[in-house]
Amino acid sequence: MTPRVVVIGGPNLGRLGRREPEIYGQTTWPELESLCLGWARDCGLDLDFLQSDIEGELVGMIGEAGDSADGIILNAAAYTHTSVAIRDAVAAVDIPIVEIHLTNPDARESFRRNNLLADVVTAGIRGFGVEGYRLALLGIRSLVTGGPKG
Ligand code: DQA
Repeated sequence: MTPRVVVIGGPNLGRLGRREPEIYGQTTWPELESLCLGWARDCGLDLDFLQSDIEGELVGMIGEAGDSADGIILNAAAYTHTSVAIRDAVAAVDIPIVEIHLTNPDARESFRRNNLLADVVTAGIRGFGVEGYRLALLGIRSLVTGGPKG
């Protein structure tokens, strides 16, 4: 059966393309969804693409994906730095979770160095912009199909 991966985006990612494009780039969230659907098809994954600005909805999405999917690619956006609820949701899930950021938060303002997710996710990709999602899909395919972990 084709593995199913859920991409989950947190607050303000729905405004990608219009939101500080000098930092986050010109690609919109719907364009990123199209790109990810193509990349997922190319590497043999089924994909769901979700986004919410609301912490509790993100907690629900993570839990539901944990019950029904094979892997999660999570950009919790600003909640990465603040949300114990999202950290607990991630820690409660038994499938691989790849944390992703378009930018490298460690190279930005000091408050972005506070990361509540880094030690509960399976792996992380940061600083590659939109291309990071392609890398995350390749990485999670390896994780969910039991490929080499190095
Ligand atoms: C982000 C980085 C976060 O610090 C920020 O709050 C975001 C986007 C990224 O993808 O680079 O909203 O997660």
